[in-house]
Amino acid sequence: MKATAQLRQEIDGADGILQEARRLHSKMRHLDYSLSESLAFAPFTLRINELKRQKKAVILAHNYQRPEILFGIADFVGDSYGLSVEAKKTNADIILFCGVKFMAETAKILNPHKKVLIPSLEAGCSLAESITVQDVRELKAKHPNAPVVSYVNTYADIKAESDACCTSANALKVIEAMPGNEVIFLPDVYMAKNLQKLTKKKLHYWSGKCIVHDTFTREQVLEYRRAYPDIKVLSHLECTSSVIGVSDMAGGTSDMYNYIKNNSAKRFMLVTECGMSDLLRARFPEKEFITPCSVCPYMKKINIENVLWALESGKFEVKVPDETRAKAQRALERMIGVGK
Ligand code: 13P
Ligand code: SF4
Repeated sequence: MKATAQLRQEIDGADGILQEARRLHSKMRHLDYSLSESLAFAPFTLRINELKRQKKAVILAHNYQRPEILFGIADFVGDSYGLSVEAKKTNADIILFCGVKFMAETAKILNPHKKVLIPSLEAGCSLAESITVQDVRELKAKHPNAPVVSYVNTYADIKAESDACCTSANALKVIEAMPGNEVIFLPDVYMAKNLQKLTKKKLHYWSGKCIVHDTFTREQVLEYRRAYPDIKVLSHLECTSSVIGVSDMAGGTSDMYNYIKNNSAKRFMLVTECGMSDLLRARFPEKEFITPCSVCPYMKKINIENVLWALESGKFEVKVPDETRAKAQRALERMIGVGK
């Protein structure tokens, strides 16, 4: 009898996994994921979704994350701006962040009383790591009348030194909302130069670069334009001005999504991280996405195994010292107040 009950349980378990694999496959089939690949993820996504319910946790994922995270376990998928807004309004007890450290830190700054987890401490960002507090203070001493606008791709100590934060979705709006006619914009040098073309204010900038967007060249874009004359080229604002100059649109990842949603063109080239093309290929299967894309090694430190581990172990918990947090929160709230 016992053996029969155990067998029944095993059959039910296998049935549940197969059903989950079918659910995942239906969402990821446009990305060439086979049913057997989905089957490998199914035990993880099932367990993670169960733990989320038990622990009252929410999973926030950036657009550049892996498909099994975006389509298997995420409660909200978006750009840095959307993730900040979502982190602010969630009533979950735990926020598990599938993104990079500065994003998880932003969630903690906006939610001091919630537990915020990130599954890997190696999920950094070349922009966030490009600048120190000392660097910001020296810039302020050099330009005492210029307010500091920092891109959210910075750590809490830099945000705490800033008057306002911004994301790629609202950088220009935040710059225009600052008093006076000059702004210290940091840390992305390319984004600053791209924005300088759009504002009358004088921007003082830093030398940070995104290692992903720095790899794209104007020649590469032109080559694809020659091969596909009808293509629409959408580039992230973190690209160089020479790439932006031969693009149809420049903006953040949410701007790319909206452009494609509202455009009747059939073929697009996304000059950004590979995850974005995957995400859009799944959301718009009738459109064609031509890559070259570039992988962010930091974003890809997060995977389904370490997400499960983070939920089970309650690690790694993101912490921000109180004084830094309060100052950084002011800069972030100012950004959210400006909107996008
Ligand atoms: P978005 O805010 O446009 O999603 O960009 C985040 C990022 O890290 C770009 O590299
Ligand atoms: Fe940082 Fe660039 Fe990776 Fe975005 S894509 S997290 S800016 S290194």
